[in-house]
Amino acid sequence: MKKIKVGLAGLGFMGTTHLGIYRGLKDVEVVAIADLDPAKLKGDISKVVGNIGGGDNSKLLEMKGIKTYSSAFDLLSNSEIDIMDICVPTPDHQKIAVAALQGGKHVICEKPVCRTVAELEELAEVVRESEKFFNAGMCVRAWPEYYHAQSMFKAGKFGKIITAGFRRLSPNISGNSWDNWFMDAKKSGGALLDLHLHDTDFIRFMFGRPEAVTSFGINSVRSDGGVDYVMTNYSFPGSLITAEGGWCASRKVPFEMSFQMIFEKATVRLAGEGYKIYWENGDVESPQVADAALPTGWHQELAYFVNCVRDNVKPDKYQDMADIVDSFKIVAAEQKSVDTGKTVKIKY
Ligand SMILES: NC(=O)c1ccc[n+]([C@@H]2O[C@H](COP(=O)([O-])OP(=O)(O)OC[C@H]3O[C@@H](n4cnc5c(N)ncnc54)[C@H](O)[C@@H]3O)[C@@H](O)[C@H]2O)c1
Repeated sequence: MKKIKVGLAGLGFMGTTHLGIYRGLKDVEVVAIADLDPAKLKGDISKVVGNIGGGDNSKLLEMKGIKTYSSAFDLLSNSEIDIMDICVPTPDHQKIAVAALQGGKHVICEKPVCRTVAELEELAEVVRESEKFFNAGMCVRAWPEYYHAQSMFKAGKFGKIITAGFRRLSPNISGNSWDNWFMDAKKSGGALLDLHLHDTDFIRFMFGRPEAVTSFGINSVRSDGGVDYVMTNYSFPGSLITAEGGWCASRKVPFEMSFQMIFEKATVRLAGEGYKIYWENGDVESPQVADAALPTGWHQELAYFVNCVRDNVKPDKYQDMADIVDSFKIVAAEQKSVDTGKTVKIKY
């Protein structure tokens, strides 16, 4: 069978992560890569660090057979490519994604996809009109433990939600990105958009649309002008749902993503003890949700999207663009709540 061909824009932390995943999948090959840094195009990724701690980047990447470009926009002219995978910093995402869709390519675009609600709404319109497929890199939706909990809840196994709390805590990542772009909130959106969006979006995926948000945040601890730590209460009648996230901790603090959800019939936790379901009758379950070949949400979402492109089936398992627009509106309301100190009602 003909392999699906991917063009990868940006060979930083996420680009190298995606490249490694594609190389472990059948039916797909990365045939072209763009990056501004000529050293990376020769396979030297020693400067790539990432926001959750990189692996061993001292070895040269195999670049044999890969066409290289010095800009993501130049890569768009490559007619071989089926999927354009966008892993450059956020400010360039929208223009590249629109040009790629209009140029007849399927698109995977890393989160947060865009910098503002208005940019995302424009992109959503292009996605709606396109015959090509689009995936926003909201990988937490596809993360095995999160997806399992969401599916069990939607199937009615846990009963009603009483309270849920999500945490996403990163150490200080200043200096870990190309041109230190994460620390410029105009580019990254600070920890609120770049990091905490994952949990806001997952809450949207699992529980629907909150009516309002009440957020508290701290600005400019690590980044220039951004909310670097945030705590939010999402208003859902009859339940208490919160999320907390930030990149303020000292450098060597391990990255944490965790949750505790208390339902009528069970408490579900992803925490130090792993992923567990504590049923009300006292039974404790440790569902084996991780697939050794596709252990993370990054693996799951890329493998799923590649299969959809190969089989020409519109992707619908994890997301649609309307949900992602909602999540952006919720995060914008969180920013407003931090800025004003008030509860902010969300207009969808
Ligand atoms: N899904 C996740 O869990 C997750 C985790 C980390 C980052 N991300 C997202 O992935 C994207 C990339 O982040 P990162 O951590 O890889 O950043 P990074 O700084 O490590 O890498 C960015 C790379 O893009 C290159 N670049 C910049 N502008 C370019 C252009 N116009 N054309 C070609 N190359 C260009 C840089 O040289 C660099 O190699 C961001 O949107 C970020 O929010 C997602």
